[in-house]
Amino acid sequence: PTPPSLVIAVDGPAASGKGTVARALAARFGLPHMDTGMLYRAVALSLLRWGGDPDSEFAALRACDAIGSLIDDAELRSETVGGVASRISAYPAVRQALLERQQEFAGQPDGAVLDGRDIGTVIAPGATAKLFVTASPEVRAERRVAELQARGMPVHYPDVLLDIRARDERDSHRSAAPLKQAADALLLDTSMLDREAAVAEAIRLVEARLAAV
Ligand code: DC
Repeated sequence: PTPPSLVIAVDGPAASGKGTVARALAARFGLPHMDTGMLYRAVALSLLRWGGDPDSEFAALRACDAIGSLIDDAELRSETVGGVASRISAYPAVRQALLERQQEFAGQPDGAVLDGRDIGTVIAPGATAKLFVTASPEVRAERRVAELQARGMPVHYPDVLLDIRARDERDSHRSAAPLKQAADALLLDTSMLDREAAVAEAIRLVEARLAAV
């Protein structure tokens, strides 16, 4: 017999550990994984390369048509692209343009793991298990600093912390699909956990949830 489809939604703020957790859950349950932030980053990069105005919803929507070739671009992970991604992700037209692609991914027969900001609330409200991964802004800034340093980029902790706070503010207070813990999401605070402990706790939470359904 075919096991029922397993959809796991992982949401949370920047540098909370949600990507690590989502990848580990995908490997553990043998499911495909989509980092949905990469879609918004690809729109941002397409806009930047084309020279479109990030303050124009119409320009951002046009940039959505050209993301195909950018999905593996190394520049997607830069702070500049992340900042523009956070801005253009507030536009309802952009969110709408990226909706179908994400819902199709979530609808694969075996299921899928998706991570982002609105997976449990908008993209896959019927997900089997939902995790809301978070950590204090200070811890997330420290992680971002370590990550940027490892890539040989110049970093200044106070700037990174300010940037994290600004991103949280924008992502949480926009009117279209704001970052928010779904009512039925399980909270995973990784502030005091290393990578391994965070992954172990995520697996424990999902398995407990599966045992209950
Ligand atoms: O997770 P990330 O830092 O790669 O995401 C970049 C931006 O994209 C983030 O600041 C907000 C936006 N985003 C979103 O609005 N909804 C998602 N599901 C994923 C990302």
